[in-house]
Amino acid sequence: MTQPSQASANPGSSVAGDFRPSPSRVKISIDGVSKTFQVKKQRTEALKDINLQIAEGETVSLIGRSGCGKSTLLRVMAGLLPPSSGNILVNGSPLWRRSQVDTSVIEQLGVVFQEANLFPWFDVTDNIALPLKLRGVNKTERRKRARELADLVGLGGFFNSYPRELSGGMRQRVAIARALSRGPELLLMDEPFGALDAMTREKMNLELQRISLATQVTVVFVTHDISEAVFLGDRVIQLSPRPGRIEEITDVGIARPRSVDVQTTPAFGERIRKLRDALEG
Ligand SMILES: Nc1ncnc2c1ncn2[C@@H]1O[C@H](COP(=O)(O)OP(=O)(O)OP(=O)(O)O)[C@@H](O)[C@H]1O
Ligand SMILES: [Mg+2]
Repeated sequence: MTQPSQASANPGSSVAGDFRPSPSRVKISIDGVSKTFQVKKQRTEALKDINLQIAEGETVSLIGRSGCGKSTLLRVMAGLLPPSSGNILVNGSPLWRRSQVDTSVIEQLGVVFQEANLFPWFDVTDNIALPLKLRGVNKTERRKRARELADLVGLGGFFNSYPRELSGGMRQRVAIARALSRGPELLLMDEPFGALDAMTREKMNLELQRISLATQVTVVFVTHDISEAVFLGDRVIQLSPRPGRIEEITDVGIARPRSVDVQTTPAFGERIRKLRDALEG
């Protein structure tokens, strides 16, 4: 772990807990979250005392070795898995109340996983509109909103296409549009582009950056890919091997919007090197 003296010598780096957005700008706060799984006699300590505050409109990348607890943390943040201790506050309201999720807080979240998980018998419009349908929004209204979102994610010509007619990247765009349909303030993404080829992934990174700037949505982005983490993140949070703890926080400090060419700059290369060293170390 980076020591404070080293951190101050390196402006791109800070130790865990250094960063505190002003209280009015904190969108989500992870307060002392730990998670231990108990399956029969097997006890797995997946997360230990995670503390992190994420500001409104910020994109935070979450990296760490396989099995260090990234998905577990995201699932706790998404209301899918109760923490063993600690809590998640969204706009200051607790997500968890005695292992029960507060559904009014969930309304503010959108979640995207590695698999798009679309309904094969629904077309693009109906897949995107599904959360609105479940919320009781009338058909005309929800189809209008779904088409606006399809346009936003670059699927304007595919309103009536079915998932089987789309590429992997297009299916992920549908999943992102669906996650945005309720107008979430926070988008939680677990390796959403992990199954895509390098070129498509690069394109999706640019799209996600454009969408996050256009909507000002706050993003938490889990990835294995250091370059993707730096390209997308305002900060990169590195978790330690299990039990996952925050090992290091890197302020990327590169202006937006970022073009793919930013990846050839010395500043970008320096961030990548530092993170790679930390992960390997
Ligand atoms: N439902 C579960 N029951 C028991 N153990 C679990 C469960 N989910 C995760 N774990 C354990 O918790 C630890 C963290 O898993 P997690 O999936 O969060 O890791 P990860 O960082 O997302 O890994 P990867 O990079 O491979 O996706 C692992 O040891 C895993 O076996
Ligand atoms: Mg995972």
